[in-house]
Amino acid sequence: MRTQVGIIGSGPSGLLLSQLLHLHGIESAILERQSREHVEGRIRAGVLEQGTVELLRQAGVHERMEREGIVHEGFSLVFNGRLSRINMHGLTGSSVMVYGQTEVTKDLIAARLSAGGIIEYEAPAVAVEGFLDGQPRIIYEKNGQRHELICDFVAGCDGYHGVARRSVDPGKLQLFEKIYPFGWLGILSDVPPVDEELIYANHERGFALCSMRSHTRSRYYVQCELDDSVDNWSDDAFWDELRRRLPPHVAERVVTGPRLEMSIAPLRSFVAEPMRFGNLFLAGDAAHIVPPTGAKGLNLAASDIFYLSRALVAYYGEKRTDLLDRYSETCLRRVWKAIRFSWWFTSLMHRFGDDPLNHRLQMAELDYLAGSTAARTAMAENYVGLPFETFE
Ligand code: APR
Ligand code: PHB
Repeated sequence: MRTQVGIIGSGPSGLLLSQLLHLHGIESAILERQSREHVEGRIRAGVLEQGTVELLRQAGVHERMEREGIVHEGFSLVFNGRLSRINMHGLTGSSVMVYGQTEVTKDLIAARLSAGGIIEYEAPAVAVEGFLDGQPRIIYEKNGQRHELICDFVAGCDGYHGVARRSVDPGKLQLFEKIYPFGWLGILSDVPPVDEELIYANHERGFALCSMRSHTRSRYYVQCELDDSVDNWSDDAFWDELRRRLPPHVAERVVTGPRLEMSIAPLRSFVAEPMRFGNLFLAGDAAHIVPPTGAKGLNLAASDIFYLSRALVAYYGEKRTDLLDRYSETCLRRVWKAIRFSWWFTSLMHRFGDDPLNHRLQMAELDYLAGSTAARTAMAENYVGLPFETFE
């Protein structure tokens, strides 16, 4: 098989890239290790920055998002049993859209397939070759047979465990990583959310988050031990633990119900530098991971794809290589700011052992946020998403 841009991975990064390239007349093909059902069934975060919403509009996959997504103008922080609202819209003029990544993925798959786009499911890439000099190609397997996808460029959109980053000489990669000493236990349930907005709680028993997918579907999380297992948690035990970590007037409004899904996610900050190696470009989780506090994962993937799609359009349309040359540096500037914000928000809200100094520092910072418009503005502008850089 031959195409212009060979894409590994049909998560949001690979799908959005393929769709934006298609709208500019550039051909691509996606190779995906998993089945379509598996990809469409994965439960992920659900907060879209304004820039991500704009990009999905440009990609023509906005119809259902605009119908079913919910615009949020603020969220709340809970500490010492009190609730402090961050009025994102009042402070920055921007808001976010609550619409699940699972739904974004389904919309993108439908758009690609209805336009005749190529997505090979159950076709794991096993190696990327020829990207530094020579003919770039992706070696993949399908039905037990080995195949090659020959292309001009390879986009490694294959997530943290993908093959693209591992095809690079380790001596050419600089990796930065921090693993946090806890996880998030999450439940998805068809019950109305406890509040119209998200609530992030710092509690002595650990962090809790009240989120949602719609007016009838809630997503809640509680901080848990890294070695905990969902087998240790009945639905009742989860609801009890969640309510314990919320102020009583919030806890009493929590509507409980059976789980649709329950899972544990570890928390990690990770960056691989650079993000370009000859004709191989890394994007999304293949290049960086943020802890979920702040919901930056999908939004960072979208900003990488914004830069990569522009650079490829400039290359095919005008033979320009300058944007491809600047891809890594441009992405990484925004990536590091989101890595910093997610680390900061994680550090502020979670229980790190029994360190009383750390706890007092968290309370001081949360109290400062509650009392300072400047501090809340800094938080809000990061939460709604920093602007994309644009070039001539
Ligand atoms: N060959 C083909 N496909 C692969 C391979 C491989 N060797 N390895 C991984 N994949 C696929 C995975 O099955 C997955 O569908 O690549 C895809 C990567 O998708 P995501 O993990 O969703 O990553 P990305 O598209 O960059 O999206 C980033 O999604 O994972 C969340 O938290 C993350 O919100 C962030 C966003
Ligand atoms: C979610 O709804 O899954 C979610 C929302 C906000 C976050 C993280 C996760 O910060």
